[in-house]
Amino acid sequence: MCGIMGYIGAGKAVPVIVDGLSKLEYRGYDSAGICIFQDGKLKITKKKGRLTEMVQALGDFPLANLGIGHTRWATHGVPSDRNAHPHADCKGRIAVVHNGIIENYASLRKTLTAEGHKFQSDTDTEVISHLVEKFYEDSLEEAVRKTLKVLEGSYAMAVVCADQPDIIIAAKKDSPLIVGLGEGENYLASDIPAILGRTNRVYILEDQEFVVLTRDHVAITDFAGNPVSKEVFEVTWDPVAAEKGGFEHFMLKEIHEQPAALRDTMRGTIKEGLVDLSDFGIDDICDGVQKIYIVACGTAYHAGLVGRTIIENMALIPVETDIASEFRYRDVLWHPRSLMIVISQSGETADTLAVLREAKRNGVKVLAVTNVVGSSVAREADRVIYTHAGPEIAVASTKAYSTQLLVMYLLGLHLARIRRTRPEARLAQLAASLNCIDQGVEEVLSQQDKIRQLAEKYQGVQDTFFLGRGLDYSVAMEGALKLKEISYVHAEAYAAGELKHGPLALIDEGVPVLALITQDCLVDKTMSNIKEVKARGAVVVAICKENLQEACQECDEQILLPDIEQFLAPIISVVPLQIFSYYMAIFRGADVDKPRNLAKSVTVE
Ligand code: AGP
Repeated sequence: MCGIMGYIGAGKAVPVIVDGLSKLEYRGYDSAGICIFQDGKLKITKKKGRLTEMVQALGDFPLANLGIGHTRWATHGVPSDRNAHPHADCKGRIAVVHNGIIENYASLRKTLTAEGHKFQSDTDTEVISHLVEKFYEDSLEEAVRKTLKVLEGSYAMAVVCADQPDIIIAAKKDSPLIVGLGEGENYLASDIPAILGRTNRVYILEDQEFVVLTRDHVAITDFAGNPVSKEVFEVTWDPVAAEKGGFEHFMLKEIHEQPAALRDTMRGTIKEGLVDLSDFGIDDICDGVQKIYIVACGTAYHAGLVGRTIIENMALIPVETDIASEFRYRDVLWHPRSLMIVISQSGETADTLAVLREAKRNGVKVLAVTNVVGSSVAREADRVIYTHAGPEIAVASTKAYSTQLLVMYLLGLHLARIRRTRPEARLAQLAASLNCIDQGVEEVLSQQDKIRQLAEKYQGVQDTFFLGRGLDYSVAMEGALKLKEISYVHAEAYAAGELKHGPLALIDEGVPVLALITQDCLVDKTMSNIKEVKARGAVVVAICKENLQEACQECDEQILLPDIEQFLAPIISVVPLQIFSYYMAIFRGADVDKPRNLAKSVTVE
């Protein structure tokens, strides 16, 4: 998963591309590169490391009116200068940037090598530049079209040629790519934030679309060359919404954006006091459903775990929640009257997309819950409910998770209403509580300093445990993921009752245990487990509802949550865990927004 940025026009290409790449670094940041046309030649600069390394290598920004750039997240070949994109052909007259994986690159490389092509990198991408070289006669467009015929795998790519410095060719299959439309200049990018502030008019490319970009014209065809007519998508996002807005990191900003994101996602979902999603056009695919599969990855999977409890409890439909990378390779016993719900912030996660396609192949309707309009998941699903979290830049997902949870509740309540599985009074009560849940999140955010102090105290620990029962266990899993991914502290989430079946052996003097205690009906059970870990020397931090404070007195520290209906607690109880992880990362000097080895959007399996 990588970021692509391209520019052609009368302006200066380099600053535009560098700026665009800086907005795409969330897609990958182990190396960066740029190719510009200057003095009749292509000039490539590429460097291992963050974009700033490449910018330093560029020195004074050279003048050019055409260029393509790339931020990389390695798949084939270690992060290094030579594996960074763009990749050139043997003569340095053709250059390519690519996001995706060329699955048949090994055999192509063997053939090309036998034909005399000299490879400079270990990447799969480099076969593209050599293939274009091989097919090039006098038209870059034709050479790229011929190249696409022999490629297998996924790609968003941009190609330039020194002999035709007035065009950029681009093509898309299974990796995202957009075209930004300017006046006398045009842009290519992996994602909209890269061009926000320059234009708000974009084409969102579909699979099998091929683009010839000049400064005054954008021609889109399918791979066979048939013209494709597309509607211009007007982006309404405020460009500053994609910036840090005064916070030190995107993650902290996004944690604080949760009340607004919840309000935005809630908008238009309540009619006459009840949750009603009929306007979202989902009723036909939900009608008569007897089984639901919820499939996702990482944080989105954790939202799906909560979704299972909610939908089963409210709508009385059996739900199976699974990890996409597992689900796609197991022999699923498809229920004949089932619905698939896929959850994905980016809408581009390869495994989730593969499951979506598998469900459709099996005749199962798919409802997507995603944050990105026009993403692959949104386009391919039968129906979509958007989380209106706005762009999430930090690799660690926060506001996307809480809005995904909210959508799970909305779905559960909507299904319960149309299926009449719960009394209307109960549904109205839950709808009213959901409608003001943003205030509960605000209350927790106001305890940021206290949580920061806890992180300061525990910053030196090696291992942590997150415990909970029921919904609290699902949130514990998300808390542990958050802590490990950004602070690199080992964190294990356990169902509290499972501890004594093994992991209790790991509890030792001073090991911090974060205990989620929001489920009134399970508080005594969880407290018994807490006594067990305390007896082995653990230090217990309780994240508990105010009304349970007394029951949790034996815990060493307490973070108090507003006294909310236990069923809705996850949306609030995750917030202190997000803040704790954030400050643990800060105190340990980690790169909060761009944790090592990770990327925001996982478009390879
Ligand atoms: C979240 O903090 C993670 N970075 C990661 O688990 C993420 O949720 C996962 O990769 C799924 O992404 P998606 O929601 O874009 O599909």
